[in-house]
Amino acid sequence: MAGNQNRYKLLAGNGNPDLASAIAAYLDRPLTRRTLKQFTDGEIFCSIEENMRGADVFVIQPTCPPVNDNLMELLIIIDTLKRASAERITAVVPYYGYARQEKKDAPREPITARLVADMIEAAGCHRVITMDLHAGAIQGFFDIPIDHLTALSMVAEYFRQSGLERSIVVAPDTGRAKAAEKLAAELGLPMAVIHKHRPVQQQAEVTHIAGELHGLRPIVFEDIVSTGGTLVAGIDAMLQAGAEPDIRIAVTHALLTGNAVERLTRPEVSELVVTDTVPVAPEKHTPKLRVLSVASLLGEAIQRIHDGRSVSALFDPKRRGEA
Ligand code: R5P
Repeated sequence: MAGNQNRYKLLAGNGNPDLASAIAAYLDRPLTRRTLKQFTDGEIFCSIEENMRGADVFVIQPTCPPVNDNLMELLIIIDTLKRASAERITAVVPYYGYARQEKKDAPREPITARLVADMIEAAGCHRVITMDLHAGAIQGFFDIPIDHLTALSMVAEYFRQSGLERSIVVAPDTGRAKAAEKLAAELGLPMAVIHKHRPVQQQAEVTHIAGELHGLRPIVFEDIVSTGGTLVAGIDAMLQAGAEPDIRIAVTHALLTGNAVERLTRPEVSELVVTDTVPVAPEKHTPKLRVLSVASLLGEAIQRIHDGRSVSALFDPKRRGEA
């Protein structure tokens, strides 16, 4: 980026305007002026009202619902920047839509998470920042650098403050066992793993729980809550296993589709802690919902990438000051 050290710019799609503004506030930078609109036939149009020549641009756009519109918007913004001679384009995609289609579970199925990666690259993106991918292996779908951040430390800090007596970290399925293990290690707690299977898509059934929950207060750490089905099945199984009716749930990406909020508003659930990687509509806010902002984490990563400093050091208190 020689000669362009100050030419780093933030540009937001329509995926999560509040998060984009919070990142801009953290970095004390304005959001680039642009027009983004949809024509009556559904096509998306983008036009940028500032000179982007030689700029290091960070496009903030989670591909959350409406997934296809937000994804298409991201691709069109990247194409606009490429044609406006931006020097480097980084897609900041805190929530990566289609991440749950990362492998074939049956013959004649797509791997859409890979298709999305190919499209982002083909559009002209040079780098990606994302968070708590459903499967870490999605990083390998890209041939460009990808910084995979996590809300884990933020979640750990939150629970450390709120009290850890007689607590246990619980993975809601085997796919989340590694993350639960890290959280348990960070909090100095034991852990358990719920084993689930899906008889049909979007339906979860618990087979068994590995670990002892009797008399303990579970802290569940999940990547995505969509219909709430996985968590509801997990809550029932944990209670049957003798867990205290004081279940705390943390989820990075709160899609909360359909009646998920109602399904999770149960007396046994004492807290639902989510982040703002995707917008949480006002009607989904309940007294038990707590939203932690990832704006400073993403802002710090953006600053470090622009400065050519380490991003992984952000997650290691001993290395935080590292160049
Ligand atoms: C899948 O295995 C994920 O980690 C989540 O458990 C799942 O996608 C959540 O979806 P839902 O809330 O619809 O069960």
